[in-house]
Amino acid sequence: MNFIKDREVISEKLSIGKELLYLTKPQCENIGITRQRILKLIEEVLIAHGKKEYEMPAKIGVHPLEEVFYHAMPAYLPSKKAVGVKWIECYPNNPKKFNLPQTTGLLVLNDILSGCPIAIMDSTWLTAMRTPAVTVLAAAALHSDAETFGMFGCGVQGIEHVRFIVKTLQKLKKIYIYDIVEDAMDNLIKIVQPEIDVEIIKGKSPRELAEKCEVMSSATIIIKDTLSVVKDEWISKGQTILPCDLNTFWDPDISKRADKYIVDSIEEHELFNNMGYFPDGLPNIDCETGEVIAGLQQGRTAKDQLIVCSNIGMSVCDVVVGREIFDIALENDIGTILPL
Ligand SMILES: NC(=O)c1ccc[n+]([C@@H]2O[C@H](COP(=O)([O-])OP(=O)(O)OC[C@H]3O[C@@H](n4cnc5c(N)ncnc54)[C@H](O)[C@@H]3O)[C@@H](O)[C@H]2O)c1
Repeated sequence: MNFIKDREVISEKLSIGKELLYLTKPQCENIGITRQRILKLIEEVLIAHGKKEYEMPAKIGVHPLEEVFYHAMPAYLPSKKAVGVKWIECYPNNPKKFNLPQTTGLLVLNDILSGCPIAIMDSTWLTAMRTPAVTVLAAAALHSDAETFGMFGCGVQGIEHVRFIVKTLQKLKKIYIYDIVEDAMDNLIKIVQPEIDVEIIKGKSPRELAEKCEVMSSATIIIKDTLSVVKDEWISKGQTILPCDLNTFWDPDISKRADKYIVDSIEEHELFNNMGYFPDGLPNIDCETGEVIAGLQQGRTAKDQLIVCSNIGMSVCDVVVGREIFDIALENDIGTILPL
């Protein structure tokens, strides 16, 4: 890895150790990275993760109020010259209480050779991008011929999942969506339908999606209690379920009886289990998502397998997308250089 050359490039614009680059939310959003590029980056990250070419301790956190968490998510991915930490907050009641997003946060990037901080940026956009990228890459690896996709939760993540899924599931004919808030469904259709050719259909109930969709994802809320909105008896063999919200939304029996239970990070899932997020116990884990993407573990081996692939989010993805944002910003003089 040519870290010296990398440092020289950064030093042309930034006095490392004396300055850092600050990027706002709109600057990150408008940096010009396409979703296709995000998919490529995240695929590379997942392969590196599958091959264990990374350093990423499980998240540590603090919990000042009931049902909220702050997580510190550090990671180092040598192949992408990316090292840093995301400091993220999850407040499930923020939308209702304060008209603010559930998830907010910052990413700090560092110079690998000296350790000095080189950037601070809002992490909303990169989180909104890297999360669906993992889901849809996993969907393609586990169920590439699916014609129907169901999305539970039509907020920030739901919208991006629908945008992303058409990029990897090439045979999709219908996308069903469901949200407890009617306006959220209407809003998703208004924003995304003009951008994609696959028809988006407003589901009448969670059951309708569970019974009609081959592949499903959920991005609703993460709480310790299991909501069991989707009942085990609605789920059939041959389906693929990709939750972003642990098992809050799903009847825990679904994951328990699944033929395969795959997770993005075993360590992260064990950590959430220790915090009480799997009141019925963590299901037996078969392997990690990155191992399937890297071809080191088999994904679906029979059409009639029920597969659950739970991706709770990994900081290796964050630091790599953050590093891409940083590189483009620096090259194009975007952002504010601040003294340390
Ligand atoms: N796995 C990851 O890497 C990752 C990353 C970011 C966010 N998340 C999680 O994804 C979830 C969604 O995040 P977001 O930023 O899209 O939030 P958001 O508030 O923008 O959207 C959530 C949507 O879910 C809907 N919803 C809530 N409860 C529901 C229910 N019982 N049935 C149907 N719909 C319901 C809400 O009405 C809302 O429209 C959160 O739990 C968040 O913690 C996971």
